[in-house]
Amino acid sequence: MPTTTHNVIIIGSGAAGLTAAINLAQDRKVLVLAKGALDGGSTNWAQGGIAAVLDAGDSFEAHVEDTMVAGAGLNDRATVEFVVSEAPAAIERLAKLGVPFNAGEDFGDRWHLTREGGHSHRRIVHVDDATGHAVQVALLKAARANPNITLVEDLIAIDLITSRHGERYSGDGHVWGVYAFNKKTKHVDALLGKATILCTGGAGRTYLFSTAPRGATGDGIAMAWRAGCRVSNMEMNQFHPTCLYNLEVKNFLITEAVRGEGGHLKLPPGVPGGGERFMPRFDPREELAPRDVVARAIDHEIKRLGLDYVHLDISHKPPEFVKHHFPTIYARLLDLDIDITKEPIPVVPAQHYTCGGVVIDLDGRTDLPGLYAAGEVTESGLHGANRLASNSLLECFVFGEAAASHIRAHWDELPAPPPIRPWDESRVTNSDEEVIVQHNWKEIRRFMWDYVGIVRTTKRLERAQHRVALLAQEVDDYYGNFRVTPDLIELRNLLEVARLIVRSALHRKESRGLHYTLDYPETLEAAVDTVLAP
Ligand code: FAD
Ligand code: SIN
Repeated sequence: MPTTTHNVIIIGSGAAGLTAAINLAQDRKVLVLAKGALDGGSTNWAQGGIAAVLDAGDSFEAHVEDTMVAGAGLNDRATVEFVVSEAPAAIERLAKLGVPFNAGEDFGDRWHLTREGGHSHRRIVHVDDATGHAVQVALLKAARANPNITLVEDLIAIDLITSRHGERYSGDGHVWGVYAFNKKTKHVDALLGKATILCTGGAGRTYLFSTAPRGATGDGIAMAWRAGCRVSNMEMNQFHPTCLYNLEVKNFLITEAVRGEGGHLKLPPGVPGGGERFMPRFDPREELAPRDVVARAIDHEIKRLGLDYVHLDISHKPPEFVKHHFPTIYARLLDLDIDITKEPIPVVPAQHYTCGGVVIDLDGRTDLPGLYAAGEVTESGLHGANRLASNSLLECFVFGEAAASHIRAHWDELPAPPPIRPWDESRVTNSDEEVIVQHNWKEIRRFMWDYVGIVRTTKRLERAQHRVALLAQEVDDYYGNFRVTPDLIELRNLLEVARLIVRSALHRKESRGLHYTLDYPETLEAAVDTVLAP
């Protein structure tokens, strides 16, 4: 089993990981690992854009307020103010790296700013309707060109290496790197560093329907929890209102910017009120209400009328306008025989973003010395009970930068890793029953969707809790006896995250933001985080 030592280890090559790497590489050598392809995370799939105050008529105060309103007051105001005030500089850095943000349409406007739900101003910079891909390409280009950055694909982090894994036990919880399964050699490598940054993204795949890529299995949250970090607000899972409803293409997002640029949500024909808009009945902000409100309204109409989907319609806008603003969506849907310039798009809500995660401070520090985290894996206090659209990529850039800056500023205080025990592969054999892994994957995602979804009840949550406990016995047993595989590593994490979500949801005795339960429909006066400590 190879053991290699680096300055800093970054787990994840999305917006957060690469931002941190590029900053650190000014004077440190960095290893960045990805569980699959380097562009395999959510970053590459982001559509709408990045929120920042860039217009003279807009203000930091308004962006802060919009973020707090969407987050139902559960946000940490100091964090929100920090991120919002760092946003314009983050956008400048991206522009310098070559991200080709769309130019302004009016004279004197540097960039075109689109609008999304919950924003009181136009403040989203974007690259057509495929902003994440443009960001991923620019960050990867800069990282590849930097001799201080080593990028490695197909290395799956299994568990953080802490002082418990040292040859001499010290027990202070210091993190020295990570054990990672190498898909090419099929062995487990020990990767050591003075500092480790978790940038592993979210846990969307805990749910049956999600807009997130296959690898969003909450690995970083589960690893940090097992190592001894607190996690917070895990019950706050964001459901995006408009995922394409299609029996073959199951997770194609229709960006919120479609509603921002005038798209309407309507009931499909053939039901009472068919062809009519329904959002005005639910919220004065109509289609541009925050996501939790719109997703719940769609869920309500689907259940009330027994529908498979509702319609999102932008066909009343000129065809050239639609094609110009949404070229990717236009082309993708035309392939599926839907011409969005002429007809509505069938849509359903789907899990989209993990608002909860590993607790960090404004420097990206977790509870454990040597361990930092940035991006969707974290709960920084920015999103509260519901993330405001396009604040997520922003969080990755701000905290990727903050964690890297803190490590560089405190480099001399960070101790070097001690001798570490290698991963013990001798006691286990190859699995003879892969079916268990596949079956349990599906079971978790199904019951999480059915029992821990948009509308919850205590009874459903208790059912989910019971299922988690049964599966945990099976998975722990399996994990202890058989050699690790990529699917087994992810299954163990998926289950850990499901357990944290259900436990947090049962703990919250109110409805707030994304956590809506029929048993406690009121919102309590005091907004209190659900913090779980190992
Ligand atoms: P990711 O980009 O998800 O990257 C995670 C990285 O971690 C990957 O490299 C992965 O390989 C690696 N990794 C994970 N587990 C392991 C492991 N065990 N071992 C090794 N490596 C591992 N947000 C916005 O602000 N604006 C948008 O317009 C927007 N649109 C979106 C559209 C879609 C379809 C989706 C799914 C999300 C969207 N979001 C948007 C959310 C945003 O894209 C993500 O929150 C953000 O990109 C997360 O970045 P990240 O760097 O934290 O993680
Ligand atoms: C979208 O384009 O609707 C996604 C934006 C986001 O998740 O912030």
